[in-house]
Amino acid sequence: MSGVKEPSVDEKIKRLRELSEQAKLGGGQKRIEEQHAKGKLTARERIELLLDPGSFNELDRFVVHQCTEFGMAEKKFLGDGVVTGYGTIDGRLVYVFSQDFTVFGGSLGEMFAKKVCKLMDLALKTGAPVIGLNDSGGARIQEGVASLAGYGDIFFRNVISSGVVPQISAIMGPCAGGAVYSPALTDFIIMVDKTSHMFITGPDVVKAALGQEVTFEDLGGAMVHSTTSGVAHFIAQNEEQAIHIIKKLLSYLPSNYLEDPPAVEPTDDPNRTDEGLARILPDDPDKPYDVKEIITRVVDNGEFFEIQPLWAQNIVIGFARLNGKTVGIVANQPMHYAGALDINSSMKAGRFIRFCDCFNIPIITFVDVPGFLPGIEQEHGGIIKHGSKLLYAYCEATVPKITTILRKSYGGAYDVMGSKHSGADINYAWPTAEIAVMGPHGAINIIFRKEIAEAKNPEQKRMELVSEYRQKFASPYIAAQKGYIDEVIEPAETRPKLISALESLITKREPRPPRKHGNIPL
Ligand code: HXC
Repeated sequence: MSGVKEPSVDEKIKRLRELSEQAKLGGGQKRIEEQHAKGKLTARERIELLLDPGSFNELDRFVVHQCTEFGMAEKKFLGDGVVTGYGTIDGRLVYVFSQDFTVFGGSLGEMFAKKVCKLMDLALKTGAPVIGLNDSGGARIQEGVASLAGYGDIFFRNVISSGVVPQISAIMGPCAGGAVYSPALTDFIIMVDKTSHMFITGPDVVKAALGQEVTFEDLGGAMVHSTTSGVAHFIAQNEEQAIHIIKKLLSYLPSNYLEDPPAVEPTDDPNRTDEGLARILPDDPDKPYDVKEIITRVVDNGEFFEIQPLWAQNIVIGFARLNGKTVGIVANQPMHYAGALDINSSMKAGRFIRFCDCFNIPIITFVDVPGFLPGIEQEHGGIIKHGSKLLYAYCEATVPKITTILRKSYGGAYDVMGSKHSGADINYAWPTAEIAVMGPHGAINIIFRKEIAEAKNPEQKRMELVSEYRQKFASPYIAAQKGYIDEVIEPAETRPKLISALESLITKREPRPPRKHGNIPL
């Protein structure tokens, strides 16, 4: 007998509880208060809001860093600055990591990265989405190259998980340097207005390198990335709203590429017709209208979950349901650039279509496109390669593709926007559709240049020819005669037609020739 009393089972359990309580405090009460004072929630509070109550199972709560440089051996925090684990949202399994700014500013070191990688590996093996809540000063400076390696390991997993499980990133604080590439590699980015920012090099470096003065907000705030760069897909007014957006987004998505998206019990009549649809189009075909009005009148219960609503507004993308089933909507927006395609709108819709194709989400396209946006800026900016991304994405997608031409469908944009030739399964047109190589004015100016110049009254002659051309060629009937349009439908019956086409395509399979992977023009 040594005389040393071993701790009892109860004492060991007590110790576990004490350690767990300590881990829950992250960097300590004072830093939690500082976090709250900045208008931010803590890593754990965010997880609590995100997951179904009581469903969170934490992993690696007691992990600590192994760094000894810069006096770090004395500064250890249980969990090492990131809370990781799994739980459920609406009863469905998800994996979450939540960076803890109260520990070394949420900076990422070797063990922190290992925790995130473990989680991502589990998500990949089990086929469940990964949600990252980002709030971090980036690579942990004290850990040097080990933190760069850690980021690299996460980037690699982001890439191999792409198209296997949905990956969603919320930015709820700083996200700088190479660290931005993990969110950028995921499928959707939600930024919180005013409290989040993303940039490769911050204002200080910009000043030193270029002499330009810029604030954090103007360089990489949520508004800039939602309106100008297109990096962010959603802007949230606060963290609660960001969490709400994540949940809503997930409600449309399957957990992995082998599943179908979750269907909900439909509460909107699939046979509902709508005489008002035809009246949305102005009598003058050159006048704009809001295509979102058409979308919301057609889809279930008028619910359209728009993505990137503030960027490249000449195209509208988002999720909706038709008879309870998730669909991805792509629509030209005549309210901006008359709906013409340009660099940004091509990239926006192209990426969205590829996401839908990864996750078995049918694509519903509404077309009203006068063509590609002309101009030196567009040509020099590479509209040729960027526009081809959209074409590539449509041709590549093998999910059900149903297209409805509402009004204009001219030139190359006709081919690009979900045409029969790009592999669409069912192509409808409204009787108001104008399908031709170019609009009446452009066409007449080219093919009747001489006749117009020689006419007694050139302007009157031009108008006569325009009207003749419009009646003869700017219609859906020539395309319908050739079978490029399967059916010319009355606007009122758009919803029932789309739903029956969708149901008919439910078993669609379209194998393509084997290859390693295609080479989308990047
Ligand atoms: C270690 C860090 C840190 C980091 C912040 N901290 N960033 N510790 N490595 N990268 C620590 C601070 O020292 C401080 O600790 C605590 O976190 C809170 O930071 P504050 O500066 O007091 O907070 P705040 O004023 O809110 O400013 C937050 C911040 C700022 C904007 C994030 O800390 C900052 O600029 N950090 C450096 C950002 C950066 O340049 N990171 C490297 C990016 S490059 P104490 O104990 O003093 O309170 C990168 C490369 C990735 O990440 C490459 C991947 C391939």
